[in-house]
Amino acid sequence: DTSNFVRIVEVGARDGLQNEKTLLPPDVKIALIDRLSSTGLKTIEATSFVSARWVPQLADAEEVFRNIRKVPGVSYPVLVPNEQGYRAARAAGAEEVSVFTAASEAFNRANINATIADSLVRFQPVLDSAKADGVKVRGYVSTVLGCPYQGDVPVADVVSVAKRLHEMGCYEISLGDTIGVGTPAKARAMLHAVSQEVPMHAISVHFHDTYGQALANILACLEEGVRVVDSAVSGTGGCPYAKGATGNVASEDVVYMLHGMGMQTGVNLDLLVATGAWLAAQLNKPTASRVTKARTAS
Ligand code: HMG
Ligand code: MG
Repeated sequence: DTSNFVRIVEVGARDGLQNEKTLLPPDVKIALIDRLSSTGLKTIEATSFVSARWVPQLADAEEVFRNIRKVPGVSYPVLVPNEQGYRAARAAGAEEVSVFTAASEAFNRANINATIADSLVRFQPVLDSAKADGVKVRGYVSTVLGCPYQGDVPVADVVSVAKRLHEMGCYEISLGDTIGVGTPAKARAMLHAVSQEVPMHAISVHFHDTYGQALANILACLEEGVRVVDSAVSGTGGCPYAKGATGNVASEDVVYMLHGMGMQTGVNLDLLVATGAWLAAQLNKPTASRVTKARTAS
């Protein structure tokens, strides 16, 4: 793709919050999503319909989802690990869902208590129902550039899981460097390999910034042709089942970079920075976004 437009998939309300120890009340999450809705973002992941025992922070998924303002033209996907999650998400009014698995067996066992093959079996009825219901499904592949348990992850394993999810009906495959260990040449080679089996327009990249490589990795992937990027406002985030992994790349920093390169996102950076600063205050911790730090320095 050589187009100038990059779609940002804002995952702060889900990936960003799922690992936060301080439980945020539902009204703060609702306020966060409503603020994000007014920035011009087109895709805002809202929450997860997963086991509250596994992810206590998102136990209020239904209340949050029901009460956010749904802006026409904006999608609000939610994570679902299985049919039970799908039904709960639909009952709350979700019109787009995301399923998630990994390229590493060990990670999947820790995260969803299933093998890769079993996870795909669990997704089949979700994809079947979604198709019948006219619901869009996104598919996440975690640990695409390294696994906290297994270490290296062969590119061939990433390709085969991504291809399978796409064949099963996911309209977009998000490739996640869950623990943020990737570097640009590796990221680019991994994306190139996946794009031989899944069309580039159906791929998103999802970087965590643990080692400070996220923006460099995104740039390498943009050069390879990707035009969808996952990020989290204020750089919050981390997976509870990926020890040591820090936040997602900050949306503010991605948008700043893209606009600086003459690319378009449709996002108002000032509103995004204000939202990031507000969220950091709610979480009572400094923002991880360099742009928000720079713009709000006193
Ligand atoms: P399990 O314990 O193996 O499942 O968990 P189970 O089927 O035996 O069910 C156990 C209990 O969970 C039962 O309740 C079920 O009803 C309940 P009980 O009878 O014991 O009271 N349950 C549910 N409750 C609510 N919603 C559901 C649901 N399903 C079952 N959907 C399970 C299996 C998948 C449920 C569990 O492992 C789970 O919820 N995992 C979620 C983990 C998670 O959310 N991880 C973070 C997201 S992934 C990520 O962050 C990576 C990503 O950002 C990309 C990247 O960075 O790489 C996407
Ligand atoms: Mg993530």
